[in-house]
Formats: sequence, C-alpha cells, structure tokens
Amino acid sequence: AAWLPPAAFRELGSRPVLVHGEGLLVDTVLDEVSRACARYGGRVWHGPPWQVDADLVLALREAGRVPNVAAESARLGATPAVNGAGDGALGDEGYLLARVDGVTVVLADAPAGLLYGMFHVVRLGAAAFDDELPARRHRPALDRRILDHWDNVDIHPVSGQIERGYAGGSLFWRDGAARHDHARLRDYGRLLAACGVNAITVNNVNVHDTEARLLTDRLGDVAETAQVLRPYGVRVHLSVSFAAPVVLGGLPTADPLDDRVRAWWAAATRRVYQRIPDFGGYVVKADSEGRPGPFAYGRDHADGANLLAEALAPHGGVVRWRAFVYDHRQDWRDRSTDRARAAHDHFAPLDGRFDDNVILQVKFGPIDFQPREPVSPVLAAMPATRLAVELQATQEYTGQQRHVCYLGPWWSEVLRFRPRGEAGGTIADVAAGRAGAGGGLVAVANVGDDPFWTAHPLAQANLYAFGRLAWDPLLVPGAILDEWIDLTWLPVATGDPETVRRTMHAIMDDSWRTYERYTAPLGVGFMVRPGHHYGPDVDGYEYTPWGTYHFADRDGVGVDRTRATGTGFTGQYPPPWSEVYESRERCPDELLLFFHHVPYRHVLHSGRTVIQHIYDTHFAGVEEVAAMRERWRLVAGAVDPAVHDRVAERLDEQFRSAVEWRDQINTYFFRKSGVPDAHGRRIH
Ligand code: GCU
Repeated sequence: AAWLPPAAFRELGSRPVLVHGEGLLVDTVLDEVSRACARYGGRVWHGPPWQVDADLVLALREAGRVPNVAAESARLGATPAVNGAGDGALGDEGYLLARVDGVTVVLADAPAGLLYGMFHVVRLGAAAFDDELPARRHRPALDRRILDHWDNVDIHPVSGQIERGYAGGSLFWRDGAARHDHARLRDYGRLLAACGVNAITVNNVNVHDTEARLLTDRLGDVAETAQVLRPYGVRVHLSVSFAAPVVLGGLPTADPLDDRVRAWWAAATRRVYQRIPDFGGYVVKADSEGRPGPFAYGRDHADGANLLAEALAPHGGVVRWRAFVYDHRQDWRDRSTDRARAAHDHFAPLDGRFDDNVILQVKFGPIDFQPREPVSPVLAAMPATRLAVELQATQEYTGQQRHVCYLGPWWSEVLRFRPRGEAGGTIADVAAGRAGAGGGLVAVANVGDDPFWTAHPLAQANLYAFGRLAWDPLLVPGAILDEWIDLTWLPVATGDPETVRRTMHAIMDDSWRTYERYTAPLGVGFMVRPGHHYGPDVDGYEYTPWGTYHFADRDGVGVDRTRATGTGFTGQYPPPWSEVYESRERCPDELLLFFHHVPYRHVLHSGRTVIQHIYDTHFAGVEEVAAMRERWRLVAGAVDPAVHDRVAERLDEQFRSAVEWRDQINTYFFRKSGVPDAHGRRIH
C-alpha cells in the first residue's frame, strides 16, 4: 500500500541477497527481503555462509566479521558523511551504501541502520545496482522524527475519534477500545520506517478522561502498539494530562513542587518502563486552551516540565512540553494583547531553566499552522533549550485532505529559514541541536483507517515528505515528490509512467502556493469558518476571543505588529528580521498583512496594489485548480481506477471550494474598499 506496493521491491527481489547480523530489526530486513525474493524470483541467505554470489549484501559491521566487505568498508569509510557527525561514525541509524566489486553493499553498526539502508536500496530501484553508484555514508540529520497522532480512544463529542482527522477512524482506537488491528499497524510501521520516521505519539494532546488512563490501567494497549511497531524501529510516546496525579492518583493536588506529586509521577513512569522498556516519553499540552497545567499552583512551565523530566530521566525518556500557550479568552476589543507574542512572552524568559531531557515543542509559526506565517521567534530565542519544531501534516488549515496541498515546499522554506540572517544557522539546525541531539521534527499525523491512508491519495506525499525532510532537511521538495511518485505510482502505473510523473508534478509541485492564492491573502490568516476551519468566513473569527483578527475596514487591512505603532511583536525577532519585518517597505509581500495594517492601495514589491493582488491571486488560484482537474482527467486509465476516482472527486470539491473562497474574499474586499478590479472581472 501507499509507497510500498510489492512491485517497488522488484529490483531487490529478483536478485541473490545476503543478510548478515542478528536482532529484531535484522529479522525485519530478512523478512522484507524474503518476501520480495519469493515474489520476484531472487534468493536470500542469512549469513554465514559468506561465500555466496550475492548482488546485494546487507550486513551489520561487527568487528570485521564480514569477510572482504570489512576491508572495503574501512576504505570506503573515508568518504564524507552525507549528514550527521563528521567523525565517520554511522551511529544507531546510519549506514554505508556502496558498490564493491560488482556487489551492492549496505553496512550498518546497528540494526536500525540496516533497515534504513534496505529501504534506500528499494528507493533507488535499478540504480542501486549500477556500478556508478557513489559510496556514501548516510545518517539522519535529526535523531527525533516523530508523528503526533491526535487520536482519541473514545469518540469525543466535539473532536470525534481523531481531532482534526480527515482520513477516517484511528489506526489504534475505535469506540473506546484498542483496535488490535496488528496487520494494519505493522503496515503503518513499514511506511514510517521507509520514509525515516522513528517515533509516534498514540493519543491526542488534548487528553480527555479515558485517554488519561493510557498511562495507568490502559497501559497494556500502549504496550501492544509498541510491540507491533518495534520491528520497524518506531518508538511510542504518550500524551499525558498534567492533572494525572489528581484524576488518576486521587491526590489533592498536581503541584509540581509537591513531594507526593513527584513520587506519583516517578512510580507511574517506572511502571510504564516496566511494560515498555524503549518507551519514548511524554507529550504535554499544559495551560493551553483550557488544559490543566502548573499555573493553577502558581508555578511556571519550567517547574511543570522538570517534574515530568525528573520522572523520565532514570529511564532515558524525554518530555516534550508544548509551547502553544496563549490567552484563548481574550477580548477582541483589547488591542494590547497579541496572540502572536504569547509563546515567546511565556517561554523565552525560561531559557536555561529546563532539565536536559525536556524538549520544548514549538509550532513553526507564532499563531497556528496557517498556510503562511513567519517562523516563530521562539525558535531563535532559546539557545540553552532543546527545541523541537512542530508541523501539521493533517491539513486542518490547508484544505482538510479534500484539497491537493503538497506541503513539502512550505516545510522546506521553514526549515531553511535563517532566523539570524545569512550568517546564522537554519531552523533545521535548531531542531537538530548539537550532533542531532536536539528536539527534532514533529508533525501532527494525517492518516486514518481510510483505504488510501490519508483520504486524499495525494496527501500521502505530505507524510512521506515529512519523514524525508526530518531525515535530511536539505532535500529538495520536488525531488522528494519524485521519490514518492517513483515508489508509489510508477510501480503500479497502467499507462505511460512518464505521463503519470509529469502530471503528478504539474498538479502538486506548486499546490501549496495555489492554495494560498485562493484563500487568505498576504499572511493574514484565519479567514476560515470557526470550529471546523473548512471554507471561507472572512469575519468568522473577527469578534471572537481567539486572538486571530485581520482588522479590515474601509481603508485597509492587516495587523500592526510593529514596535513603532503596533503590538511590538517584531521586537521578538533578532536582527535582521526585527528590522525587516518592522519596515513596511522591506517586509516580504507574502507576510505584509501579518505585520502591517496597510491601505488597500499600498503598492507591493510586485508592483501591484494590495487590493489588486487580492483580486488577481484569487482569480488565478481558481484557474490553477481548474487546470489541475483537467490534467488529472488525462491520466484516467494510467492509474488505478479507484485512486483516480477518489482524486477526481476531491478535485471537484476543491474546485467548488476554491470558487467559494474567491468569490467571498473578492466580494468582501470590494465591498469594504469600493475599489474595482482593474481588469473588470466579475465580483459579486
Ligand atoms: C489548533 C487545533 C486544535 C488543537 C490545537 C493544538 O488550535 O485547532 O484542535 O488542539 O491546535 O495544537 O493544541
């Protein structure tokens, strides 16, 4: 399924293969290779013996116990690492891939490396057996590559089985109980390993009553999930409630400085590790959107996070403490409160106070996963804290998996952003920390029990791209897409593969920018229907307590976040961005309305006025969707009919929705501004 149809293993499966090594993940490699060989006529040995005529050797490098190959590995060891430490070590997940005397060789120092190396061979297809294959070490840039599932065990009255889930039910839970669907879970583990993801969180950050008990009497279900995913190198994390000592432990308080509370967490955590020795750690949403937290006891977030860190430390676990903290009950009349400022105001002063095994998990932007936001200033403000960057694969604000929106280019832009200007590091460097030991990259998962995993078959690419970017943030989004097309679609294409490839690229490459064009303009955000967040509603959030306003009036639009006349948010950035964003003239067009309130006739760098930009992009966005739909029609017959139908049906909805967006946005701003479209197009 998805990017591992059996046919993706054709090249590997039609050859003699030697697998050397012992261990759970080596068994996984052996199992994968055996199945492929059974299907495509290859042969597999589990070495020793060594003297076999293999085309592919997948071997653990144990003290030179691999004849011939050992000597070669020493020589090849001189080639530079693609990623990771420059010391030449392969680490727990790295591998060396080379061609040695007509044999393709994957060497690793630990079983996970062998598994990742095998999937690399699958990805390369025939090219893996080409004598020109360059010898290279591969190591992930980030040690932590995690998907957070916002899955509920019970069906929650507001958020359902999966909060912000658009692909059916949960893979783990159904109607209040574990699903025990091991076959599906194992398939999921394979997909994750093949793109490089090595951890998941099995429940929603909003931890309700039933889900709180996953930590205690329902721990068996978590252990079962961990057991099914373990052979694919995927570790399990749990979202926990800060109030657990009260709601589960019967204590009168959850005060982080209370000894009874500390003892409760220590004991609960010990029991978790007794059941799940490789358990990853906890995720906590505290004092955020009504969740319990340390504020109730007059303590701060460092006190709260360190409490859990202390319980996890003896077992090697981490607590991921979310920085998504803001006032969700603000008065819209209050112009002094700015939601964008909140995370930095709360957390930057705490830099240096967190224990070593605390990771502060920061949403990539200061507001909330909008299709365009500046990068969060928190990511440049806490050099003494391990920071994880949180992305959203589930398309809450990017079309809810009814619209095509390939997020690779957006994430790549975020990861390559240099918050201190050209001389400083990137956001990917922040997530990597020293030698990969930083907080890593996290995405909110976009999968469910839908037969296509992600409801929109093309949304699978976002999951794939997340894993690949977490492994190597410098990968080019178009190349990742190409890999995904190669693995997913071409092995099963029923028509000309190159046409399929071209069509996919034409539809997806620029689809995030297309989405941006027909929705909210110039970084303003949140013009969505309140609650479910699908479709346009320009004033839907304008007079609400959520802090997401655009301030459009008859003269202009946008939020003044400058130091000179606004909320001062620009001052949370280091130079040069503090200056660039402060200046109307220098601020990038795509973020203008995030930082400035400007007249409709303000002229952008593009040479167009703001109002004309709004009209032009909304007309263009709809035309681009119409073109996507035409292109997709042309590959009917070249891809599986069920997939074709599903995508076609979604493109119809995307087109309908894009027209709705265009007409509401254009009409709204025409009525506010009274400025007609320079091209006289129809505005209602
Ligand atoms: C968004 C989303 C919520 C989610 C929250 C979070 O606000 O709409 O469903 O709980 O983010 O990240 O905690």
